Amino acid sequence: MGTLSGQKVFITGSGGGMGRSHAVLMAERGADIIVHDIKTEGAAETAELVRAKGRKAEVIVRDVREIKAFQSDIRAAVDKLGGIDVLVNNAGVGGKRLAIEDIDEAVYDQMFDVQVKGAFFAMQAVLPAMKSKRSGRVVNISSIYAMGGNVNASHYAAAKSAISGFTKSWARELAPFNIKVNAVAPGFIVTEMTMGSNTPANIAERSKRMPLGRFVEPIEISYAVAWLASPETDMMTGQVISPNSGETIVGY
Ligand SMILES: NC(=O)c1ccc[n+]([C@@H]2O[C@H](COP(=O)([O-])OP(=O)(O)OC[C@H]3O[C@@H](n4cnc5c(N)ncnc54)[C@H](O)[C@@H]3O)[C@@H](O)[C@H]2O)c1
Repeated sequence: MGTLSGQKVFITGSGGGMGRSHAVLMAERGADIIVHDIKTEGAAETAELVRAKGRKAEVIVRDVREIKAFQSDIRAAVDKLGGIDVLVNNAGVGGKRLAIEDIDEAVYDQMFDVQVKGAFFAMQAVLPAMKSKRSGRVVNISSIYAMGGNVNASHYAAAKSAISGFTKSWARELAPFNIKVNAVAPGFIVTEMTMGSNTPANIAERSKRMPLGRFVEPIEISYAVAWLASPETDMMTGQVISPNSGETIVGY
């Protein structure tokens, strides 16, 4: 039996990218998954991959910014699956790299609405079920930008810093309910999100500067997420771990 045997896991933004990788790995380790995305096809494909591992999948297709409808979808999916053990707050947008002067209100709002509001209200929706069971695990997806910031990404770095703030505060607030809250802060990962503003040539060039000589693969983030979702981390809460090929050591 896997380390997540019988666990019921909800992963936002799991219709592609790293969220899909988390869903498939966690299903392989025995979890049933609530797959969620704004993309109908992507969510359906991930659900098929989960079922191919012999696990149950419920699907939510919803923009996280439709807060009321999203919360009601979450409650319905949790009821259908028969409970919830783990929330992975993964949905996010990267968008273009922009100088401070070029971040208009719409871009700023989209960043905070998807990354910050989306994570907060997903958490609010699963909390009653976790509290009444007096058990739960939350894995928030932050970023190394929340630690070191970056040029032309201040809105993204600030949104990911808010995720770190949620992680630490929720960990304290929910410890009496035996709900553990931790975060994974990936370094640069090649996904749809980052391919828009990079080329294979510049990725190859940049990867040479990593202390471990290459960028981290999505599955290597999934290993960290699955570990934080498992009983092996029963005594961890409020922590941020960062698989990043040593990138933050460089202090780029
Ligand atoms: N790729 C990286 O280098 C990197 C680094 C650090 C952190 N992250 C974070 O990891 C997470 C996953 O990113 P990824 O690289 O796999 O990107 P991705 O774009 O491949 O995946 C993000 C998923 O979120 C979904 N999504 C976006 N907006 C949504 C909305 N409004 N409502 C519902 N779903 C929505 C997308 O459809 C997509 O499936 C994000 O939170 C991202 O910020 C990524």
